[in-house]
Amino acid sequence: MHSRRALLYMPGDNWKMITKSITLGVDSICMDMEDGTAVSKKAEARVTIAKALQELDFGASEKLARINSNGSGWEQDDIEAVLPYHPDGIVIPKVESVDHIEWASKIIESAELKYGWQVNSIRVLIGIETAKGILNLKEIASHPRLDAVIFGGEDFAASIGATRTKDAVELLYARQAVIVACTAYDIQPLDIVTIDYKDIEALRVESEFGARLGFVGKQIIHPAQVEPVQTAFTPNTEAIAYAKRIVETFEASQKEGKGAYSLDGKMIDMPLLKNAQKVLERGLQSATRRIAD
Ligand code: COA
Ligand code: MG
Repeated sequence: MHSRRALLYMPGDNWKMITKSITLGVDSICMDMEDGTAVSKKAEARVTIAKALQELDFGASEKLARINSNGSGWEQDDIEAVLPYHPDGIVIPKVESVDHIEWASKIIESAELKYGWQVNSIRVLIGIETAKGILNLKEIASHPRLDAVIFGGEDFAASIGATRTKDAVELLYARQAVIVACTAYDIQPLDIVTIDYKDIEALRVESEFGARLGFVGKQIIHPAQVEPVQTAFTPNTEAIAYAKRIVETFEASQKEGKGAYSLDGKMIDMPLLKNAQKVLERGLQSATRRIAD
């Protein structure tokens, strides 16, 4: 699965921002036809994204196109406009039922067959940003074409009538629901946008909190957000070193016949080993990515 620490949006009709995005070393580039694009520019966005997919070299960045939501009346034209140019994935916003994914998956599969591409080579990422989306996650997150669930904090707050605050306590339940569903089906949970893009310190704090919750990456809207978000979602050297010590000492203690033991005055047992293994797995992914870049 592609690593998605930072997923950058830009309006699909904005050629300048699209060409800028491929210079930023960002994990995923999401050219948007939905809310980032004005109603009067939907048609222009389709043409511009198709052109970008044909003409630009995205390097190691993943190329994604976000269509309008099911029932908007635009979704069919959106997906048909970009599929012939093989994006790496389609992002469907405001998903509320697994049928929304099945609809896209069928259209994608017929394009894959028509063009002779490998079936399932075009992935689906979805936005969960309404109360119904959260309620139906159990079924939604099980779809086999799905790679990631992107949690839309602003839309979700509007959906439940919550007031957004800086520490986002009003979103905690839904963020954790997304993480739990993604973990159960081994797909990636991606966290909310920090819309105050000039406040890099707030971005760092929010990204680190999201990483601690269990998100593997975060949505961003501005080039200045790339580096802080990538750093927050890459395990640091101390975390990796500590995780390695847990794995090593755990093996030794098992040999001694002890399930629980003490390391630096803290109790270590199976759940801490599993957590350490997750940290090492993510560290390994970052190392692989550095070599690929
Ligand atoms: N992707 C790529 N490049 C971007 C960008 C983005 N999302 N946002 C800004 N840039 C570029 C600008 O074009 C500018 O390029 P230049 O230096 O070559 O001229 C540079 O980064 C600095 O931009 P800046 O002037 O600080 O921002 P702005 O005032 O032009 O734009 C926003 C601010 C918020 C309007 C803009 O960042 C944006 O549209 N973001 C995406 C919004 C979106 O897609 N929302 C929907 C999904 S939530
Ligand atoms: Mg949204």
